[in-house]
Amino acid sequence: MASDSLQIGKTGSGVPWTVKAIKRKDFGDKFVWASQFIKDFVADYMQVDGASLLDFGCGAGEMALGLALQNYPARVVGVDISTDFDRLAELALENLDLRALPENLQFQKVRPGDVGTHTSKYDLIYSWSVFHHVDQKVLPSVIKGLRQILSRNGYLVLQISPLFYSAYGSVLSSVIKEPWAHLVYQHDNFESLFFNEANLPDFCSDVAVAQAWKPGAWDTYRTLNRITVPEILDEFERAGFKLVKKHTTTNFEDIPAKLKDIYIEEILRTEQAILLFQIQP
Ligand SMILES: C[S@@+](CC[C@H](N)C(=O)[O-])C[C@H]1O[C@@H](n2cnc3c(N)ncnc32)[C@H](O)[C@@H]1O
Repeated sequence: MASDSLQIGKTGSGVPWTVKAIKRKDFGDKFVWASQFIKDFVADYMQVDGASLLDFGCGAGEMALGLALQNYPARVVGVDISTDFDRLAELALENLDLRALPENLQFQKVRPGDVGTHTSKYDLIYSWSVFHHVDQKVLPSVIKGLRQILSRNGYLVLQISPLFYSAYGSVLSSVIKEPWAHLVYQHDNFESLFFNEANLPDFCSDVAVAQAWKPGAWDTYRTLNRITVPEILDEFERAGFKLVKKHTTTNFEDIPAKLKDIYIEEILRTEQAILLFQIQP
């Protein structure tokens, strides 16, 4: 349970934690900021307290932990195709001095295209920075699966950033600073640029660390599904959802002239989409 200040608290079984111990910025961003964002985004429609929550594509599970500890949800379940959530206990100890994860928080590994096995439906499903990574071949089955495990009056929040066609939509901007480079250069030249660029990402202490990180980062880029906001809206409508609220953020960089002739400006400029859906009545 969290104190009013949300700075310190105890889990349901009385295990203490404190945000004063946070050492990693990326942990704090997810645990504090992004989990609060979800709560605020749905506040006009539902309460997180008392609700059952599903984090689809939870990664290491920092947001799921943030929602579980800083509110009073009935349960929070995180699912992902990776088992990155196995390191959450270690991250929680390092960043919150928390010695045992809360009992109302569970994780499940799923196969691509599946949404997991669940004993009951969810009042709120959220997915943060995941849908552009979902293989386009399984996207419709994922959306259909989420529709089946959402309560009739439940809500689904989908956040995607950066959208592929936006200035830094390659997700490689920690190395390549040129906006829209992934759309301007021919593919092999873009690849050489990425592997030969001397810029070190902030989180890489030296060149060797950066070189070891690059193949995985390139693979992430290579497998982005290139989904756009209109496509997402179509897919969700087709699966029986209706849009309740839409928030987008925009890039203001100068668009290279040749891209203006090829792409719709709004698609190039939309950096992030945060969408709230409900099941169609
Ligand atoms: C950029 S990470 C975001 C993780 C987490 N939501 C966060 O914000 O910290 C994208 C996540 O999506 C997961 N993912 C990709 N495809 C998926 C799928 N088909 N089903 C479930 N998770 C998937 C990846 O394994 C990865 O953990």
